[in-house]
Amino acid sequence: MDTFDAIKTRRAIKKFDSSYKISPENIKTLQELTILSPTSYNQQNWRFVYVTDQSVKEKISKAARDQAQPKDGSLVLVLCGNLNAWKEEPLRYWRNNTPEKQELVKNSLARKYENSPENRRDEAMRSCGFAAQTIMLAARQMGLDSCPMVGFEYDELAEIINLPADHLIVMMIVVGKRSEDAAQRGGQLSLDKVFFENSF
Ligand SMILES: Cc1cc2nc3c(=O)[nH]c(=O)nc-3n(C[C@H](O)[C@H](O)[C@H](O)COP(=O)(O)O)c2cc1C
Repeated sequence: MDTFDAIKTRRAIKKFDSSYKISPENIKTLQELTILSPTSYNQQNWRFVYVTDQSVKEKISKAARDQAQPKDGSLVLVLCGNLNAWKEEPLRYWRNNTPEKQELVKNSLARKYENSPENRRDEAMRSCGFAAQTIMLAARQMGLDSCPMVGFEYDELAEIINLPADHLIVMMIVVGKRSEDAAQRGGQLSLDKVFFENSF
């Protein structure tokens, strides 16, 4: 499948085939592709809990106000941001580069995030957003489908996945095989309502 087709055929699927099991190879491929998503300063501040255990998926469905996708989908990915990634051995983010570059990035990270919880949170949202789209498009290439979700009780889901205090949940994505096509698209805004040439 080429990229345009993956983009066009990705839909938020509501009904998944509960008998379909994703292979460990496909999970590994998804993981390998996901970590190629861009992050500011290559800080790789996303963390992913991937859930294959049926009993845990059922608990997640309950936390998701009884939406069926987590329990019927094959894989649930909970996309989280590590708010302290900027200071956790930051030299490793540029370990293939010169020590000077590594130091430069370390200092830049501290400048941007040390005194700004807002920047830390924004960065988690940005990084997980990119990772989310990577996951959903890669799933299409595998002949699979997905549903991004934020309709869940945050505290319940945090408890289920044992969320560390310095992490936050950004969203979850269910991956699996669709058993029913998505409904007709809601209706996209026209290009002139969302694109502005050179300035607003
Ligand atoms: C951040 C986010 C959260 C969402 N949460 C849910 C959800 O909890 N349950 C659900 O069924 N769909 C959820 N959706 C799917 C959207 O409703 C869907 O993406 C939108 O209607 C556009 O449809 P499409 O993705 O099929 O193009 C979510 C989508 C996004 C991006």
